[in-house]
This record gives sequence, C-alpha cells and structure tokens, in this order.
Amino acid sequence: MTKLWGGRFQKETDRLVEDFHSSISFDRRLYKYDILGSIAHARMLGRAGIIEPEQAGEIVRGLEEVLDDIEAGRVEFSVGAEDIHMNIEQLLTAKIGEAGKKLHTARSRNDQVALDIRMYMKAELDEIGGMLRDLQSTLLDLAERHIDTFMPGYTHLQRAQPVTLAHHLLAYYQMFRRDEERLADCRRRTDVMPLGSGALAGTTFPLDREYVARQLDFAAITENSLDGVSDRDFAVEFTAAASLIMVHLSRFCEEIILWASAEFAFVEMDDAYSTGSSMMPQKKNPDVAELIRGKAGRVFGDLLALLTTLKGLPLAYNKDLQEDKEALFDAVDTVKKCLLVFKPMLETMRFKEDRMAAAARGGFTNATDLADYLVRRGMPFREAHEVVGKIVYYCLEKNITLEELDLARYKQFSSLVDEDVYEAIGIGRCVEARRVPGGPAPEAVREAIRKARQRLGAPRG
Ligand code: ARG
Repeated sequence: MTKLWGGRFQKETDRLVEDFHSSISFDRRLYKYDILGSIAHARMLGRAGIIEPEQAGEIVRGLEEVLDDIEAGRVEFSVGAEDIHMNIEQLLTAKIGEAGKKLHTARSRNDQVALDIRMYMKAELDEIGGMLRDLQSTLLDLAERHIDTFMPGYTHLQRAQPVTLAHHLLAYYQMFRRDEERLADCRRRTDVMPLGSGALAGTTFPLDREYVARQLDFAAITENSLDGVSDRDFAVEFTAAASLIMVHLSRFCEEIILWASAEFAFVEMDDAYSTGSSMMPQKKNPDVAELIRGKAGRVFGDLLALLTTLKGLPLAYNKDLQEDKEALFDAVDTVKKCLLVFKPMLETMRFKEDRMAAAARGGFTNATDLADYLVRRGMPFREAHEVVGKIVYYCLEKNITLEELDLARYKQFSSLVDEDVYEAIGIGRCVEARRVPGGPAPEAVREAIRKARQRLGAPRG
C-alpha cells in the first residue's frame, strides 16, 4: 500500500512496524468527528480561496458519502493506512479523485487528532454529565421517600449518631453534583479549537480559524500552535474527574455490599441485580456493586497512564501521544457502563426500614443527645461527656439501653436529670433536633432537597 507520506522513503514499512504503530483498531471510534472536522476545514479552505470553492464542495460531498459508507458498514478500514485520519483521506480520494488530495492543505494530523479528541470529549462530557444528573434526581426521589427512615450514622464503622436514610443518600447527591460540576469545568478547557496549529508551527496559509471554530461549535481557538498540538491536559482532567466519579460510586457500592450482608441486613438487592453462586445454593451476591467497586481501579490506572505518557514529552507532538486514546476511551466506557447499571440497581433495592431503625436505636447513638441534655441544664460539656460515659458503661453491664434506665438510677449519676430526659433521647427527637442547615432533621433535609431540585432544574452553566 502506498503511504500518504511515502515520497521520502525508498523502502516499505516493515510489517511488524506497520502493525505496531497503527492506531486504526481504536481511533476508528473518532470517524465522525474526523469527518466533521474535515468538512469544516474544507469549507474554510474554499471560502478563503486557498482551494477552489468547487473543489471544496466536492470534498464536502465526498466526505458526507464516506460518513454514510462508514455508518452503513460498507467500509473496511486498513491497518496500512495507519490511523483514522489517513483512512478517511484515502477513502475520500478513492471516491472523488484529485480534489481529495487537497483536503490536507494547511493541516497536519497533529492538529487534526487534537481536534478530533476534543470534539469526542465534548460529546462524551455532555453525555456523562446527563447521566450524573439522572442519578442525582434518582437520589432526590429516594431521599424524599425516606425523610423519616432512621438509620445509624457511623464513624469508624461504629454506630455514632442517628441520621436518616434521606440524609445519607443526600451525601451522595452532593458528591455526584460536584462530579457534574467538575465535568462542566473540564468542558470549558476542552472547548478550544486547535486546527490551524499545523504540525507544530501553524501554517503559511491565511486560515480563518474562527470560522472553523464557529462551524464546529467551539467557544474559542487555541492561542499557541506548539501547545495546540501537544496539550492533553483536558484528557487528564477528564480522567481525574472520572476517577472521582468512580471513587464515589465505589464508596456507595461498598456500603451497599455491607448493607446487603446478613450482619447489616439494611437492604435486599433485587434479583435482577444480583447473582448466585455456582456451588452454594443459598447465595445471593451483590456482584454488580462489587464489579463497580472493582472497576474503579481501571479508571485510576487510565489516569496514571495518561500522566505518565505526558510527563517526559518535549514539545511539541510526539508519537507517544497516540497512547492517550485507549486510556481515555477506557475511562469513558467504564464510567458510562458503571453509571448505567448503578442507577437501576439503586432504584430496585429494597430498604429494610425496620432493621435500619432498630440499628439506629441500638448502640447508644443517643449518648451525645443525653450529654447535650445535661449541658442545657447547666453542666459543662466535658463533664457531661464523662457522666454519660459512665452511664453508658453501666447500661452495657446491665445490657439495657439509655431509654430503659430508670429515673432514680439516672439521678444517681446526676441530679440534673428529670423525667423529660426520655423525650430528649428518643430517636425521633435526636434527629429532629439536628435542624442546623446541612443536618439530618426532616426540616433541614426537606430544605436540602428543595435546593437540590432547584439546582437540577436550572440550566447548566
Ligand atoms: N494517530 C496519531 C495519533 O493518534 C495521529 C497523529 C500522527 N502524527 C504523526 N506525526 N505521526 O496521535
């Protein structure tokens, strides 16, 4: 196969090398962006009089046909043509002849590939952003139903203070909201059009870069040609944001896995989202949640691969940059797959409200409230902490809860305790009293949901 760059060469590329450096097996996924970018470039060349306007028209029509051919499955890409850019150029020239050879005027594959990835990333950022928004609204719907579902809040995985399931779910809402913001922020820096950077030093032709940017719906053009072809920061930023999405999904999955165990028994996974064991007939495993937790590692790996690829590169383009794509694509695919399956898994889970409330009632989760009760009656907090510690110890010995301790005994620990202590340490009261903004009280949670809905309804920006 004759190479598009074959003029300077006397020998054929070794077959091993041809296979080694070809990227068509993975960069074929950029075909649409490559063609749309080329169409904009050709139109601009025609308008600026750099090529004949009629030829520009032929190129545009030819490229549209190539696009149809690819989408109809009529195209076999060739490894010999190396990558998606040269494959498409060859297909075009095969179709329209001479004019096709003019498409690459004032352009390099270096700025072309930079353009393609940015276009691809923008589309994926929008899609993943949408998925995150869907997940946020699922969380808000669920939270709305569980404003009064008590559960223990934990520190060190030890029961700490009572909260509600709504409050717990809203913590994840916050994480996914930040994730969405991070993607939007990354999108701003991705939304910059690099075509015109040429191989590295721009071009001698009078390109209208702004026109190309407008055609392709970019907000701005890159401001330095060397940077334009070698910048992959946006890919790193995306993969970092994707890693955080995976961290959040993975933490949530870890909790779901715990909650689904007989020890917690806070949730029952839907049959459609769990799997059995090939040996143990009784088993119902939370494999989906485990797999999401497991896949987090892949995405972190993608991030590290990108960073490592970039760290030693002199300006401007180096072939190492071809390695950006597989890491990026893998991060995109993994995050999307995980978000896609996580949402229905969550929606179909059955929360065992009784179990959660019983757990919230046990474990002395109201001990702080008892201390706060004493503080309200004039005892310094440090002292109250000590007294309640002793009371808890006593109850543990007797195997009773704080609610079960009789008043006479309470008075022995502190004369400040009165009959109203029982109301003050009742679980409903403990939660309800935490009305501080950002707290678990139904009132505060309702406000948090209202704010969140307003934000979700508002246009992105
Ligand atoms: N396939 C290459 C990549 O993905 C395209 C750019 C190639 N440029 C070059 N000078 N070899 O990075």
